Amino acid sequence: MADSNRLDLLVSLCKRRGFVFPSSEIYGGLNAVYDFGPLGVRLRRRIRDLWWREVVELRDDVEGLEAAILMNPRVWEASGHLANFSDPMVDCLGECHQRWRADQLSGDRCPNCGGELSPARQFNLMFKTHMGPVEDAGSVVYLRPETAQGIFVNFKNVLNSSRQRVPFGIAQIGRSFRNEITTGNFIFRLRELEMLELEWFCSPGDDASWFEYWCERRMAWHRAIGLSSDSLRFRPHGDDEKAHYALASTDIEYRFPWGWGELEGIARRGDYDLRRHQEMSGKDLQYTDPSTGSRFLPFVVEPSLGVDRTFLALLLDAYREEEVRGETRVVLGLDPRVAPFEVAVLPLSKRPELMEVARRVEADLRSSFATEYDETQAIGRRYRRQDEIGTPLAVTIDFETLEDQAATVRRRDSMDQVRVSLSQLREVCATELGR
Ligand code: GAP
Repeated sequence: MADSNRLDLLVSLCKRRGFVFPSSEIYGGLNAVYDFGPLGVRLRRRIRDLWWREVVELRDDVEGLEAAILMNPRVWEASGHLANFSDPMVDCLGECHQRWRADQLSGDRCPNCGGELSPARQFNLMFKTHMGPVEDAGSVVYLRPETAQGIFVNFKNVLNSSRQRVPFGIAQIGRSFRNEITTGNFIFRLRELEMLELEWFCSPGDDASWFEYWCERRMAWHRAIGLSSDSLRFRPHGDDEKAHYALASTDIEYRFPWGWGELEGIARRGDYDLRRHQEMSGKDLQYTDPSTGSRFLPFVVEPSLGVDRTFLALLLDAYREEEVRGETRVVLGLDPRVAPFEVAVLPLSKRPELMEVARRVEADLRSSFATEYDETQAIGRRYRRQDEIGTPLAVTIDFETLEDQAATVRRRDSMDQVRVSLSQLREVCATELGR
């Protein structure tokens, strides 16, 4: 399958099966903003839960936080986002008047109509709004472009209310907003996105080794959730492309159909943010080492990932088409840990006695697995639907079940079928799903 085709096929599957819808679609949509349907919600929750479990719950040195999206505007002055969070923008002066990011163009003419381009000017990517009834300069607030600043301004609150000592981390999941100049490639570059961010506070001399540590941990996580190793790589940033706060940074990139693209950014932010907030707020943000009594501003290592890009990479990686008996079978070969449903329970036909057993089996499995019950359409079409949404196992209740108290378990990837006694079903499903 051609790579360019792959994205189109996936976009259509996402709409058809309820993963992703264009925002406010009945009004023509809103550029680079999307809604997530019933299956999309399930996949996003899995991504968030897997990240949270790995980064927060399985460790005793990371605390969670949920800061508000709206913050005092001085935060963005201190963080440097007001002055620096911008991209160079040019306008087409020819026929189409389209806007472009100057740093993404290869020539000096408009890529769309060949027209002349205006000189580049910096365009700040933060969305601006007003707080309260008066729309004047004093009421301006911003929608956060990263969740990280909510962590920095709460550094002392978390430190003083937990029993953490440096090195430790604060993690946060939340929406961010960026008024991107150019968008495209489906949900790759959004104007409303969701981030998974960890700020790791350590002693100034230790940040280089913690940076190595987090690069390895994060790469291992991407592999563990099912992304193929040969579609993942590190790409260190050159000096000319680092963010304004970064001493050094590297991306974990995924091989998207249009080329390698950033999945996660890992940065050494030094003490840039805490120092700037200390200066602007006048509050002491230093840490006191309890064993030596020394006081310092911790250095920060930051792994920062987008839920949406992970979602897209997982679906692209999993999508495949196969020829089965002259028909095309579409399969999402998702890892069971991220699949929206783990087990589908299907009565062979709509006979009441089969539906009754199937309902009972599904109710029983539901307490352990993400299950779906489906009695519509012919069984072959129901298998195809489950293949297409990535359900690893289908349990079919047939007429024999009434006699032998057993069901057929079908594996999504191989389409193999095994007969399993109802009393063993839970155990067999757990083993099949790698639990
Ligand atoms: N606090 C660090 C930070 O904001 P970033 O590299 O700008 O770093 C981190 O963003 C991650 O957020 C990216 O690796 C990407 O996964 C995601 N991301 C950033 N901008 C995005 C956008 N416009 N649409 C979707 N995801 C985006």
